[in-house]
Amino acid sequence: MNLDDITAFQQIDSQDMIGQINGLPDQLNRAYEIGKTFPLPEKRKFHSVLISGMGGSAIGADLVASYLQDNISLPIIVHRDYELPRWAGEDTLLVASSHSGNTEETLWTYDQARQRGCAIVAICTGGKLADLARKDGVPLWQFDHRHAPRTAVGFSFGLLLALFEQLGLISPVEQEVDEAVHAMRNVQTNLGIDVPVTHNPAKRMAGQLFGRWVVVLAADYLAPVARRWKGQINELAKAWAQFEFLPEADHNTLAGLENPSAMLMNMMALFIQAPGMNSRNQKRIELTREMFMTQGINTDMIVARGEGKLAHIWTSLLFGDYMAYYLAMAYGIDPTPIPILDAFKSEMASV
Ligand code: PA5
Repeated sequence: MNLDDITAFQQIDSQDMIGQINGLPDQLNRAYEIGKTFPLPEKRKFHSVLISGMGGSAIGADLVASYLQDNISLPIIVHRDYELPRWAGEDTLLVASSHSGNTEETLWTYDQARQRGCAIVAICTGGKLADLARKDGVPLWQFDHRHAPRTAVGFSFGLLLALFEQLGLISPVEQEVDEAVHAMRNVQTNLGIDVPVTHNPAKRMAGQLFGRWVVVLAADYLAPVARRWKGQINELAKAWAQFEFLPEADHNTLAGLENPSAMLMNMMALFIQAPGMNSRNQKRIELTREMFMTQGINTDMIVARGEGKLAHIWTSLLFGDYMAYYLAMAYGIDPTPIPILDAFKSEMASV
C-alpha cells in the first residue's frame, strides 16, 4: 500500500485513531493538570504502591514506575492479575486503573484491597469501578475520554504522576512534563500522515515491518516503551509482535537466534536507545544489535529525542504509536476495533 495515500487512510481508520495519536501531547499535559484537582485517600504512611490494571490501562503504570525509579523511595508494582500479593495490606496504596471500569481482573483486586484495608484510588472513565468507588467512598479519579483505552495512555500516565506528586511521594515534575510535551510536538513534525515516506521515519519503519515477525528490544527506563510498541502493533495493526528487555535478553534470547531459521530470517528486530540510559546498557544495545545482524536478522534502531528521561520515554512511545498506525494502514486494517479481544471478554463474562 502507498503510505502517502491519506484518502485511503481515512477510509480505513473509521474512528479517527490518528486524531488520538496526534492529540497525545495535549492529553498528557491535561491529565497532569486535572490530576492535581482530584481527591486523595486519607493520609497515612504507605510502604508500597500497587497499580492494578490490564492492557491499555496498565502500560501507563509501567511507564510511570520505570520513570520514577530514581525519584521515589517506595516500590511501585504493576499488577496484571487477580490475586494480590500476600504482603498487600493497610500500608499499601492500591490504584485500580481501568479505562472502562469493567475489567474483571481489576475489579477483583479492588475487592481484595477493600478486604485487606488498603488505601485505594480508582482511575476510570465510569463503569462498575466508578459505581463501587462512589458507593464505598473511595477517591474516584474519573476522566472523560471516549476512545479506546490504549489511546488514553497520556491520561493513565499523567494522572498517576499527579497522584504521586499530590501525595508528596515525589517532588514536582512540571518542568519535565513541559519539556516532554514540547519534545513530542517537535517529533510530530516528522511523523504525521502528511509527511511523505521519504521524510517520515515511522512510515519507513512500518514498511520494513510489513509481512515480518516483529521483536522490540529496549533497556532501562525505555523497557516499558518496547512493551507499548508490541501492544500497539498487536492492537492497531492486528499483527504479531513481542518485546524483550536488556540486559536479560543477552542471557538467554541471544542463544535462540538459530532456530527455526526460516522464521528468524523473516524477523525484524527493533532497538530503542536513549542517551540517558546506563552506559553499559547503551553498549549492550549496540552489541546485541550487531549479534542479531551477524545472525542475518534484519534490525533497525531509533534513538529517543529530547533532553530528559520523560522526553525520551514519550518521544519514543509516540514514534511507536505512529509506526503501528502506519503498519495498520499497510495491512488495510482499521486500527480501533479489536473484535477478538471483545469476543474473548464476553466469553469470559458468560462462564
Ligand atoms: O487497549 C485495550 O482496549 C485493552 O488492552 C484494554 O485496555 C484492556 O482490555 C483492559 O480494559 P480497560 O482498559 O477498560 O480496563
